[in-house]
Amino acid sequence: MSGTPAACGVPLERAFAALRTLEPGCHACYVYDLDALAARARRFRAAFAALDPLTAFALKANGLPAVLERLRGAGVGAEAGSLGELELAAACGCAAEMRVLNGNGRTPEEADWAAREGVHSVNADHVAELDLLERAAAAHARPLRVALRVNPGIETPGHRYVATGGEEAKFGVSPGEALAAWASRGRWPHLALDGIHLHVGSQLTDPAPLERALEAALGMAEESARRGAPLGLINLGGGFGIAYDGGAEFPLEAWARRLAERVAGGGLAWVLEPGRWLVGPVGVLVAEVLWVKRRDGRRFVVLAAGMNDLLRPALYHARHAIEPLAPRAGASEPAAVVGPLCESADVFAEDAMLPPLEPGDLVAIRDAGAYGAAMASNYNGRGRLAELVASGGKLTRARAGETAADLVARRRNDVLIG
Ligand code: LLP
Repeated sequence: MSGTPAACGVPLERAFAALRTLEPGCHACYVYDLDALAARARRFRAAFAALDPLTAFALKANGLPAVLERLRGAGVGAEAGSLGELELAAACGCAAEMRVLNGNGRTPEEADWAAREGVHSVNADHVAELDLLERAAAAHARPLRVALRVNPGIETPGHRYVATGGEEAKFGVSPGEALAAWASRGRWPHLALDGIHLHVGSQLTDPAPLERALEAALGMAEESARRGAPLGLINLGGGFGIAYDGGAEFPLEAWARRLAERVAGGGLAWVLEPGRWLVGPVGVLVAEVLWVKRRDGRRFVVLAAGMNDLLRPALYHARHAIEPLAPRAGASEPAAVVGPLCESADVFAEDAMLPPLEPGDLVAIRDAGAYGAAMASNYNGRGRLAELVASGGKLTRARAGETAADLVARRRNDVLIG
């Protein structure tokens, strides 16, 4: 959506004004361009078409039903990391064979749901989990296909909180454990334990770690076949990075070509789990400027959105491009763009070059479609923001903003329980 401050032909200022007629007290909102989302989904699927993978959108990036439904319409399934995400995927019309259950804290309820309602596959995080999945599959007399998550010891660049494939990471089993489990898969007669899952990190802009993950997966598949337990499924996870604040984007088509060449004719089933790449660039956080304060020559621009609305800058030192919707005339100068919460980490940019800004102006925080609203909280007694979607030049409020009254209404649910 970079360039014009519009979503799908709807100017963002108009979108915000329209929301204000519904929610007069609102000072910020998320806006997603669903047509751009569908175009990215088509581009992703076209790039990997030679492999014919299941593209399972990582719901944790954005769980708005309007987003999930649009992706489903573009042939994209869902990667769910919890019972809530499984239920959400199903409620949005995602069919059993399009759902992948992931996560490293499997509960009996998730295992039971997967066996009862059906999934394409389950990513199991460790060997003992297989016993739980086996019991659930046996109880429903329904086989479950399982990919064992392997920690390949692959380091990735970027913030350590989004690195998942290094030896320190909590995810997955060692290659040796995986090979032993596949070789003794007769222990779990109701599971089709023929898959490997790797997800080495997020916001990758260089395909090298994915290349290493692929080679690790192929090497293990070969070794497992040698031990009499051939694999049928490789799930390479997500991680495809986007161009935040002028940075590079993951070379999607080049990597897809390389992957297809490397594995042509292998007869394997494939799963990919993109999250950020699909939805990140199509979302924007629109926020009103509340105050402009100068102290010792430094300009602080206080927005009506804060770290409870978009946590990425505070948690990962992530930087999102920020621009006024209607830039005022005048020279750009540095500004600390901050939120209104009582936390020193509540900062979107330390010194963004921005033109003059006045209270009441609107700014767009770009590339906020992934891990934005999905990670929002009520911290500091703040309601989560409204989410708008634009499609075909039409604007819909897809989720209402929470008000102070909403927070007060659910302030207590006392039940005497002991
Ligand atoms: N598959 C698995 C198993 C995952 O854990 C994740 C994300 C994905 C797929 C999707 O990854 P993506 O394609 O979006 O990189 N909150 C952080 C990102 C955390 C990613 C967690 N796992 C952020 O805002 O940067």
